[in-house]
Amino acid sequence: MSDFKDKVIYQIYPRSFKDSNQDGIGDLKGIIQQLDYLQELGIDYIWITPFFVSPQRDNGYDIADYFNIDPLFGSMKDLEQLIDEADQRNIGIMLDMVFNHTSTKHDWFKRALNGEKEYQDYYIFKEGSKDTPPTNWESKFGGSAWEYVPHLGKWYLHLFDVTQADLNWNNKCVRDALKQVILFWKSKGIKGFRFDVINLISKPEVLEDDMLGDGRRLYTDGPNVHEYLKELVKDTGIEDLMTVGEMSSTTLENCIRYSKPEEKELTMCFNFHHLKVDYLNGDKWEVTKPDIPTLKKILMDWQMGMQKENGWNAVFWCNHDQPRVVSRFGDDKRYWKESAKMLATSIHLLRGTPYIYQGEELGMTNAYFDSIEQYRDVESLNYYEIMIKQGKSKEEALEILAARSRDNARTPMLWSNERYAGFSEKEPWILIPSMEGDKNALAQKEDSNSIFHYYKKLIHLRKTKEVIAEGRIDFMYLSQPEVFAYRRYTDQDQIIVINNFSHDKIQLDCEFDCKRYQLLLSNYTLHQQKEGKILLQPYETLVYERR
Ligand code: NOJ
Repeated sequence: MSDFKDKVIYQIYPRSFKDSNQDGIGDLKGIIQQLDYLQELGIDYIWITPFFVSPQRDNGYDIADYFNIDPLFGSMKDLEQLIDEADQRNIGIMLDMVFNHTSTKHDWFKRALNGEKEYQDYYIFKEGSKDTPPTNWESKFGGSAWEYVPHLGKWYLHLFDVTQADLNWNNKCVRDALKQVILFWKSKGIKGFRFDVINLISKPEVLEDDMLGDGRRLYTDGPNVHEYLKELVKDTGIEDLMTVGEMSSTTLENCIRYSKPEEKELTMCFNFHHLKVDYLNGDKWEVTKPDIPTLKKILMDWQMGMQKENGWNAVFWCNHDQPRVVSRFGDDKRYWKESAKMLATSIHLLRGTPYIYQGEELGMTNAYFDSIEQYRDVESLNYYEIMIKQGKSKEEALEILAARSRDNARTPMLWSNERYAGFSEKEPWILIPSMEGDKNALAQKEDSNSIFHYYKKLIHLRKTKEVIAEGRIDFMYLSQPEVFAYRRYTDQDQIIVINNFSHDKIQLDCEFDCKRYQLLLSNYTLHQQKEGKILLQPYETLVYERR
């Protein structure tokens, strides 16, 4: 795949984007209604999270039928219209392929439960006594990763919810069946695919207890994962489409292989190491302040490592599984606008493909829910129970969920300041948290100084400055713990990006010949630069271009 480096991808969580039929749940027609908005923003692709037939236990990541659309979200006709209308605006649609597991309501699993051996081989079933699961592996949503089926006398593996059974990729019939799914959607004009937790598909030949942890080190980036990906890509002819793999707890070495063009696996990878810097001792369910020096180091290591070996990163802060970045690494009150813009700059000008998650371009914040009844997410509800069982008080558990829950990202898009935020005329499936001020699309489109307009500028810059899309990267101001700064360069051009990740003013020596550079972009109007010094305001971002 060539000429993809100047592209920007926008992620839509359809359930929360726009409701066209007033049932309180977003849908495909709602996306069609907002295509002009996305075109104005300037994005190139839309990745839509799963809208296929599903019991919706994990909001569509539990697929019961890969070939049909859940009526909750619309019809095949709606999707065809969406592909067509997006295409007229030069926007490609990317679909989310959940190939590590299916819903237990999928026909294959039902047949497995009916005792059909052929379909039991589609999944990972193990004989065993009902008292001891085959291994000590833990589900990522809490509890054992195994579920016992009494009438079969067997256990099946589910790395996620008990209703999401892991597929057996060692079975060629499974691999071939999944290829048919890609071919089907490709023939409809789909321009790219996001592959859900794709680095978990290859389990070890022998499944054993993990004496050091929850099992992940035994099945992550497993023995045949590269071979299976190459086969999938080759047999479906998707080398030239936009593809991105979601890589859970992965390594740099593996992501280089997944994304290096010569390997013909994927265009790029998501990794999540930089989004764990506010986990206490690596535990998602223990909150601490973000460790900015570690955040910098992780981003730097991945940028430099991928550059060295010609790999390619998906660069992002937000998605439907992550809390909102402005509430997490910024200040969503006093420096709401400044920090949202700074965070956007710090990611968009890196070497890699930027992803914008719906509402990020409006500076949407965390939900700040304060009762368990307000939560919808299966992971949040499971972990609430687990935390209470572990002895945390309700208040403590709720405080942790307020910082960590995936529902922070899943509240409805704020289109206007009408009732239900212009998302729907009916009460939405999940609460709309706060709509004060100009945190909505309508207001921000009219204000040239808004976060929305700032994102427009960043996207436009990637398209007009080759140095941003194609340039090399190195890092600056390494000794400043709260400053994340880098230089992008080609033989002809150079830009320098300086980001203050703190509340404080910071004075820097000009590490470059300031006079030869002009300011290209910033989130403050007044700049304090004198006698070879730069005085950074709280959360300030400065982008300089060499004259
Ligand atoms: C990763 C997805 O992003 C997440 O939302 C989902 O719950 C798991 N994979 C399981 O499919």
